[in-house]
Amino acid sequence: MKTIIEPFRIKVVEPIRLTTPEERRQRLEQAGWNLFALHADDVIIDLLTDSGTSAMSAEQWAAVMRGDESYAGSPSYYRFEAAVRSLMPFTHIIPTHQGRAAEAILFSIVGGPGRIIPSNTHFDTTRGNIEATGATAVDLVVTEAHDPDSREPFKGNIDLAQLERLLESSAERIPVVMLTVTNNAGGGQPVSLENIRATAAIAHRHGKPLIIDGCRFAENAWFIKCREPGQSSRPVPDIVRDMFAMADGMTMSAKKDAFANIGGWLAVNDDALAAAARNRLILTEGFPTYGGLAGRDLDAIAVGLHEIVDEQYLRYRVRTNEYIGEKLLALGVPIVQPVGGHAVFVDARRFLPHIPPLEYPGQALAVALYEIGGIRACEIGTVMFGLKPDGSEVAADMDLVRLAMPRRVYTQSHADYLVEVFEEVVRRRDQLRGLRIVSQPSQLRHFTARFVPLG
Ligand SMILES: Cc1ncc(COP(=O)(O)O)c(C=O)c1O
Repeated sequence: MKTIIEPFRIKVVEPIRLTTPEERRQRLEQAGWNLFALHADDVIIDLLTDSGTSAMSAEQWAAVMRGDESYAGSPSYYRFEAAVRSLMPFTHIIPTHQGRAAEAILFSIVGGPGRIIPSNTHFDTTRGNIEATGATAVDLVVTEAHDPDSREPFKGNIDLAQLERLLESSAERIPVVMLTVTNNAGGGQPVSLENIRATAAIAHRHGKPLIIDGCRFAENAWFIKCREPGQSSRPVPDIVRDMFAMADGMTMSAKKDAFANIGGWLAVNDDALAAAARNRLILTEGFPTYGGLAGRDLDAIAVGLHEIVDEQYLRYRVRTNEYIGEKLLALGVPIVQPVGGHAVFVDARRFLPHIPPLEYPGQALAVALYEIGGIRACEIGTVMFGLKPDGSEVAADMDLVRLAMPRRVYTQSHADYLVEVFEEVVRRRDQLRGLRIVSQPSQLRHFTARFVPLG
């Protein structure tokens, strides 16, 4: 059969409240035109993030009931640890309440003023946690990543020559090298096994550990299987093990590729780093066998890790985004190609060329999607990345709008509705106007900034 169906049946449903455009205009005004400030039950289709929004399976809910809430030495922790280690063979696996907690712990130890942390592209919380210690986060993604039309298969790769040069000139300032798989801020694009291997080799030659931000490791492995020569007949779990065998540690948000609604971990091989991380964990998260999570969360993650590497699921997952991407392209909506693993990224700067970057074309498009169709998407552009630590503002590389797909939540008719909303946005495109920020915090401003529409 040519239709790739949702490989699950629905057992529990959540009603969606259908709002009117007038109601949505009022909600936008109350929210200061920041979609993070909306009440979620005023949203019809919520594509703000794929993080923590997965539908858990019957097996995961059964595991929740098995969760053991002992403060120390819970069997839930050991099931979690075994599940992680079956895919990512690190010596120390330290649970945290979510990904950024793992980042905060790691950078409180290896960061600090004067330090430089290179990566393909740091995600916003990673960058925020690095900069909060006084260190500098440097993005060294390959040049094709900046070309939304380039159909290179691994646009998440790090530029190896630039990494080598940075290590040659500043090795003493670089405590770790990072790679984000898939590269969320760069369009959900994958990193090849070859690039991971070469990055590890360069880092190790300079005596530096490689830390993988593995939030979407299963989607990355699926792309490796589909696109990298010699990988097509290999089981996804084997590819995952190869990806992590070359690294010295990882940060993880279990809210992505572990089908969990909360959770994360920091894993490392180095004993001294692990000891420092556990000391910090006890101060900020909790005892090392629960790390800010309930035992039931650890069990949900353990089962989720088993389910996420299922190839039927991954095929459907990637196809959903391709389906939406193909329809948007047919409407003439520019998107980042090829479509990434967890989301479709619309190139708002190109779609709305009459709105300059410092009037936030991405935010303008995201606001229009909500006003016209009750769809909540996320600006990944100048609002998210344009404010520098010294308070200056510069246009981000690209102004994208991310339509992130929660895992196992929406069906094909939701995707078709999304496309219809875009049809209307295309009709009104010339009337869309930019926005001005009226209040903002000094870091991670996209979460809480307030806007007013221009014109
Ligand atoms: C690539 C990447 N790294 C880190 C994080 C942070 O994870 P969390 O939201 O669990 O703190 C995210 C979240 O979206 C992410 O996409």
